[in-house]
Amino acid sequence: MEDMLKTFPQHVCSWLKGAIVYKYQDVWLNEVFLKGTILAQQRFKAHPNDVFLCSFPKGGTTWLKALAFAIITRETFDISTNPLLSTSPHHCIPFLEKELAEVEENQKNSCSLPIATHMHYHCLPDSVVTSNCKIVYIYRNMKDVIVSYYHFVRKLNKIPMEDAPFEDALDEFCNGVSWYGAYWDHILGYWQASLSRPEKFLFLKYEDMKKDPKSNVKRLAEFIGRPFTIEEENEGVIDNIIKMCSFENLSNLEVNKCGTKLHDEKVYTVENHLFFRLAKDGDWKNYFSHEMIEKIDKLIDEKLGVTGLVLK
Ligand code: A3P
Repeated sequence: MEDMLKTFPQHVCSWLKGAIVYKYQDVWLNEVFLKGTILAQQRFKAHPNDVFLCSFPKGGTTWLKALAFAIITRETFDISTNPLLSTSPHHCIPFLEKELAEVEENQKNSCSLPIATHMHYHCLPDSVVTSNCKIVYIYRNMKDVIVSYYHFVRKLNKIPMEDAPFEDALDEFCNGVSWYGAYWDHILGYWQASLSRPEKFLFLKYEDMKKDPKSNVKRLAEFIGRPFTIEEENEGVIDNIIKMCSFENLSNLEVNKCGTKLHDEKVYTVENHLFFRLAKDGDWKNYFSHEMIEKIDKLIDEKLGVTGLVLK
């Protein structure tokens, strides 16, 4: 794998202390995701009943993982003993390209937990595309994703804001350079695939989930084959799940304030609190100048106008 890495085009991210990303299948990827993508492509076999939670980093992954986990385990655990209260959502639902062994173990145990991934659609292992498994795709206002991504990778690399100009991060993002390539290509890949197989996909929008969590959680539960009964709804099961998975609740749990998630010890360790920042819609307004707004809105119109999805 190390020798193979050297054969891919490389880019040095100047605003990130010279961190390197590699181009693979037309996507810029950091080392951990690149290695994990190749391994998953070589080894992973999807089962027809698998459910995938797909997202671009900072698009709402943590929230979606928590909600899906809570929906699926609601009969196994009482709301006061749910593992989400003592375990990061990222430990509850592993990533295909980072924790393949855990994903395969879950599959073997038939524990019907979804599988999370940030992989672009065209990079997914063939069996995910060809089988009847389902795909939930969460997306979010692109400017808020950029700001969230900027802080996440900056903090992970321990770079103070004054040494990491937002303009430089934005320029790279607009050139399609990030830990997971171009956000617009990520969305387009899933959206285009959904046109020929709409029954395989559920698209959730982060901002809509905030505005109307109940109907979106019901949609999610139905799509993943675990619909709520009228009795459950009347007993407040949906409301309790929404409350448990809220930013306010999860971000204040000890595990999410102090715990860590080891990725690759040689490369980086992620402290759980980094997955919880502000969760505020429109925080981008504190970072974008008029010129920046024009630039990114033009890009969104050009690249994603065809989808009808609202990203700005
Ligand atoms: P901000 O950086 O804007 O605060 P991801 O989970 O894809 O890594 O995305 C992280 C973003 O989702 C962060 O956004 C984080 O604060 C927000 N987030 C994390 N948990 C959340 C939750 N339970 N509800 C809503 N937003 C959440």
